[in-house]
Amino acid sequence: MAYLLGSIPSGVWIGKTFFSIDIRRHGSKNIGTTNTYRVLGPVAGTIVLFMDIGKGFIATWLPMYYGISSWYPLVFGVVAVIGHTFSIFDHFKGGKAVATSAGMLLAYNPRFFLIAAIVLASCILITSMVSLGSIISFIMIIFVSFCTHDKALTLIAFCLTCFVIYRHRKNIIKIIHGNENLVPFGFYYWY
Ligand code: G3P
Repeated sequence: MAYLLGSIPSGVWIGKTFFSIDIRRHGSKNIGTTNTYRVLGPVAGTIVLFMDIGKGFIATWLPMYYGISSWYPLVFGVVAVIGHTFSIFDHFKGGKAVATSAGMLLAYNPRFFLIAAIVLASCILITSMVSLGSIISFIMIIFVSFCTHDKALTLIAFCLTCFVIYRHRKNIIKIIHGNENLVPFGFYYWY
């Protein structure tokens, strides 16, 4: 069920249903929040953000609610992230794992989620690059979970960070070459 939940391709469905646009053919061609915002605007982007965060959150929070503890809620969250990136509804393609992982973190440890959100927002405000901010905030979570001796989260955050870097490989090449897509609410975009 976590996999099926994660598989819901929010950006594709919102784009096709309300705008008759397939975001997989526009912008960065990614199905996530950033490209939805880029192609369909802030309202659609915000809806996709909440839906993608919601997938990771529900998959992690439900097992916790029913008293399943230890590593298992995080494992369900990771399964939702796998669904998001290899969606059964999208020929086993999908997003870059950021928002659904964030939802997992929100359910598991809201304080860490807040730290990641602040780091992400700060990076975007400085660099205007969501991709760079996403990667840095994932790395920050490895550091924070390691420092608080949360072994389960440290290991999962490390694996997810490697995966997120891999999923952002084209963004990283663009960053290196100075032609990464920018969002219009950061210092770098305007100056
Ligand atoms: O969450 C995806 C974001 O980090 C980058 O998206 O569309 O700019 O490749 P995009």
